[in-house]
Amino acid sequence: MTKAGGHLRLGVNVDHVATVRNARGGIHPDPVRAALMAAAAGADGITAHLREDRRHISDDDITRLMAELTVPLNLEMAATDEMLKIALRHRPHAVCLVPEKRSERTTEGGLDVAGGHNHLAPFVRELVGAGIRVSMFIEAEPRQLDAAKGIGAPVVELHTGSYCEHPPGPERERQLERLRAAAAHAAAMGLECHAGHGLGFDTVGPVAAISTLAELNIGHFLVGEAIFTGFAAAIGRMRTLMDEGRA
Ligand code: PXP
Repeated sequence: MTKAGGHLRLGVNVDHVATVRNARGGIHPDPVRAALMAAAAGADGITAHLREDRRHISDDDITRLMAELTVPLNLEMAATDEMLKIALRHRPHAVCLVPEKRSERTTEGGLDVAGGHNHLAPFVRELVGAGIRVSMFIEAEPRQLDAAKGIGAPVVELHTGSYCEHPPGPERERQLERLRAAAAHAAAMGLECHAGHGLGFDTVGPVAAISTLAELNIGHFLVGEAIFTGFAAAIGRMRTLMDEGRA
């Protein structure tokens, strides 16, 4: 487990490089090339979400990421039999279990670990048994944290969407306080704690300051910002803001 207040890892999510590629159905821009560039620019790991409808990352992308990456791959996936087979075949460094609805534009809300224990427990058991570091993407709620601990997941990732979607002001502060409390609760239970969703240059600092967080996963903002400054520069700036937030 990462020491509190130590290096805060940056996982760069390359899903939306694949979104742009798929808009034309060809091979450009290649999310694997983007992942290699992200690693060279300071990403500690790469995250990719293989969705049931394959709307961005494809099966072949996962095969190539596994073959070509020199940093850890964090595979985001829904708890389905199909995805479990894929994860067990590839054995990525990490799997993050996320809720998935076909109609959503992005991952809305966290996984209901408390309500879905019986469905989720066998997935966690198999993945942990295969030596994969399993995390549960959850809302910053005590009962979800307790359920994640109870199900045997060593890691949780806190959904930062509600914090990011509010403009600066009391509601954003309230959401930040929820994240702080949840990160402290996770640490007290011995869970490694990550966070992500919707983070950008304006929102990352106060989250990075939460000393018990070990990793942030960031994608959409970085891919968007790459249009203006390039991917490496966007990642470098994010890294600097994370380091400043933590300091
Ligand atoms: N973490 C998880 C579990 C996610 O599902 C996502 C979105 O795929 C992210 C982090 C990254 O979110 P964003 O693309 O908004 O930075």
